[in-house]
Amino acid sequence: MCGIVGYIGQKKAAGLLIEGLKRLEYRGYDSAGLCVCGEGTLHVQKSPGRVAAIEEMAGADASLQAGTVGIAHTRWATHGAPNQVNAHPHCDDGGRIALVHNGIIDNYATLKQFLLGKGHTFTSETDTEVLVNLIGEFYEDGCQTLEEAVQRALREVNGTYGIAVVSADEPDKLVAARKGSPLIIGVGDDEYVVASDAAAILEHTANVIYLNDNEMVVVGRDGMRTMTIDNVPVTKEVQQIEWSLEEIAKGGYPHFMLKEIMEQGEVARQSLRGRLDLRDKRVLLGGLREVARHLVRTRKLIVSACGTAWHAGLVGEFLFEDLAHIPTEVEYASEFRYRNPIIEERTVFVAISQSGETADTLAALREAEEKGATALGIVNVVGSTIARETDAGVYLHAGPEIGVASTKAFTGQVIAETLIALMLGRRRFMSQPAMTGYLEALSEIPDKIERILEQSDDIRQIAEAHCERENWLFLGRGYNYPIALEGALKLKEISYIHAEGLPAAEMKHGPIALINDGMPVVFVAPRCGTYDKITGNIEEIRARKGKVIVVATEGDEEIRRYSDHVIYVPDCPVPLSPLLTVVPLQLMAYHAAVARGCNVDKPRNLAKSVTVE
Ligand code: G6P
Repeated sequence: MCGIVGYIGQKKAAGLLIEGLKRLEYRGYDSAGLCVCGEGTLHVQKSPGRVAAIEEMAGADASLQAGTVGIAHTRWATHGAPNQVNAHPHCDDGGRIALVHNGIIDNYATLKQFLLGKGHTFTSETDTEVLVNLIGEFYEDGCQTLEEAVQRALREVNGTYGIAVVSADEPDKLVAARKGSPLIIGVGDDEYVVASDAAAILEHTANVIYLNDNEMVVVGRDGMRTMTIDNVPVTKEVQQIEWSLEEIAKGGYPHFMLKEIMEQGEVARQSLRGRLDLRDKRVLLGGLREVARHLVRTRKLIVSACGTAWHAGLVGEFLFEDLAHIPTEVEYASEFRYRNPIIEERTVFVAISQSGETADTLAALREAEEKGATALGIVNVVGSTIARETDAGVYLHAGPEIGVASTKAFTGQVIAETLIALMLGRRRFMSQPAMTGYLEALSEIPDKIERILEQSDDIRQIAEAHCERENWLFLGRGYNYPIALEGALKLKEISYIHAEGLPAAEMKHGPIALINDGMPVVFVAPRCGTYDKITGNIEEIRARKGKVIVVATEGDEEIRRYSDHVIYVPDCPVPLSPLLTVVPLQLMAYHAAVARGCNVDKPRNLAKSVTVE
């Protein structure tokens, strides 16, 4: 997904902007570019492909070397192909103003007609070039300053944007604004770094301000001013970023994804820290304190999310209904937002999102709030839009997740849901002994995850034995049906193997036709109420010569008789089992992708944070 970096200060901007872009590479992109303000001129370099290409071009371009003000961008195409012309920064047709933009200008076609009528010309297919020309038009047409022209242009815009703008006529100034697309201002000593993501700022400073929707900032040699796009001054508090750069780096692993899988014991510990009160047999969730009484009276929960977070939501459906006895519906955010959903009294909406910026999840949240639902967020990125727009919530405390395929965030999301379900369950009907049992079992989960991680090498061998096969099935039941879906998604995302996840019993209603000699079929079959039924399904696969890989509970020796490979996970109460069973499937996907030579951290066509529809 697109990334923005802007700099104004005493240092040379070009190298700094490129370093910033590298920090944002993990977000996924297809082209990159930068603009540095020179002596009354803007110097732009852009290119499809990797940031390394821009680095080379910038290194060879002497005109870029001196300037201390600039903007840069990594683009993930929305309007127009990923090529050099469409890459950002875009300049107005006079070449005096340059702009980088995340988001989509919905009414760009109308604005373009207006600008064509005024004699403007366009070289790219992008909505961004329309916006920069609109700013240019207003700059020429009576606006005294760059910020005034930006304000006037943004008032004409429908859509979403995070933008950073510079002008050759005011070379000691950088203007940035946001609506629906994140933007953070790093406040250093005599310098400012504007970025769409904290990763590009941390190297310089941990002091930041977060812009809200419809707010903008003007940074210059003489300091910073913040205001709304209607020019009402706003006072912003400088906050501290909690994550260190070291946390963001790979920590010695070959890939971020493996690091993040391997961190999951610690992530579980962090997520539970201070929240499990084993002495008083309580769950403490500070972020829900204000709404706890209200939540206990919930008639219905609607959980909405995308991708892996949606799978976490499906696990939540089991947890909330089983442990808290609250009817729960799980919705793809992209469907929910356009469905005119019925929100009845005492409905609580739960948005789950690692990034807290996913466009569909945010839109679903706004739809639910518009219709009167109380909204909770289960979010990883502190200060993200979803975190800020929900009434209350639970942070994952999973640390930054860089690998595009989500792993540790899933674990954090399911832990957060488990804690919420237990807190509400206990207040509604759950006995103290039952609560005690769950809390003790939950406190053992981090160690149990770490025991599973020790089997990484064995799992690698299984993955290598079958990674040539282009079709896999993942089957599970009950709490482990969403885990089958997540196992299939992980494999698809990073190894490009076609995989389907299904409730195990559905297999005989069609997918069984696919089974042929050697097709890998992964069963998620820990000991649970439907265990015997699942062993029946395993027999059906074996009879058709499929290769059976089973995730089973430690001590289940019987299962070996039916399986080609068994991966054991420690025993635990069934509602907690997804926290364990997902781990071998993440490792399986990772090792299969590595064996197939795939780019694990940057899988093709995928973006980490999907901030457009
Ligand atoms: C993208 C990512 C997925 C992620 C989904 C939702 O598709 O590639 O890994 O699960 O977005 O992201 P969120 O940040 O809302 O959890």
